Amino acid sequence: VSIEKFIEGIPKIELHLHIEGTFEPELMFKIAKRNNKEIKYSTVDELKSAYSFNNLQEFLDIYYAGANVLIEEQDFYDLTWAYLTKVHTQNLVHTEIFFDPQTHTDRGISFDTVIKGIHRALEDGREKLGITYKLILSFLRHLDEASAFETLHQALPYKKWISGVGLDSSEVGNPPSKFERVFTKAKEEGFITVAHAGEEGPAEYIWEAVNLLKVTRIDHGNRCLEDDRLVKLLADLQIPLTLCPLSNLELKVIDDLKKYPLPEMIDKGLLVTINSDDPAYFGGYMNENYIGIAQALNLSKKQITELVKNSFKASWLSDKEKEKKI
Ligand code: ADE
Ligand code: ZN
Repeated sequence: VSIEKFIEGIPKIELHLHIEGTFEPELMFKIAKRNNKEIKYSTVDELKSAYSFNNLQEFLDIYYAGANVLIEEQDFYDLTWAYLTKVHTQNLVHTEIFFDPQTHTDRGISFDTVIKGIHRALEDGREKLGITYKLILSFLRHLDEASAFETLHQALPYKKWISGVGLDSSEVGNPPSKFERVFTKAKEEGFITVAHAGEEGPAEYIWEAVNLLKVTRIDHGNRCLEDDRLVKLLADLQIPLTLCPLSNLELKVIDDLKKYPLPEMIDKGLLVTINSDDPAYFGGYMNENYIGIAQALNLSKKQITELVKNSFKASWLSDKEKEKKI
């Protein structure tokens, strides 16, 4: 079979996905209408034509604006359910997804509304579609430490639904060190930690994520390649990188998929995984990310299989759960 068919058929795992980044324009218009919320654009096509970004911040501005129409628990359910039914058609068997509570609580939506809708859809996905999941609460790094602490406190009653905490949003100028105390507290409460680092920010931010936030994975991490000592550390400790090829292309982290440094990362012993980040905005879910990178770099089926195995290894599934999926 062709590499494309091979990719479509192989059971896959996603480790870097923002649920707010799966908000497709059609659903956005539908939910906006029922909530009597305005969208700046009058048609789906007009909205889609605004999806052209020169950097992370230009994307974030549009991404947060899109999330504004989410009000009711059912909206968060519908958003999550739409993602799950989509990736079910792509043979996704497990997903570890981020949600950004502050994007909603800052607009007066309660934490409970957000998590109840998302959790109910995730449970339905597990029962009806066979997709297992972990949920990761991600703090917005452009907001202050106090806001992150408040969010962590709101999450404590829902501990059993949340496996870990992460860090996303505007990277440059908001280093991991800003959230060291929040992450220390989160770890004390039993959460696993991850952080976006080295997407636009420097290698130094990856060091901080490892040393101060004690992360088990780095989200993106592209810029680790600028620091040989850091690469050696990540390789020695097998700290996974959750790479997002189409996201990197759309946000100009790289200018050509053909130049994606995946071969170099693999050569250096890094545990790399392929993910979609914000598929509704970047032109592709898991299959499109795998196919994009496979075509650009001429990857073999064996190499694709290795990447999928890396995702199993990097996931938070127990060994027993992994066995059931293979
Ligand atoms: N929030 C959603 N997608 C993100 C990304 N790629 N980087 C930082 N924050 C994000
Ligand atoms: Zn991300």
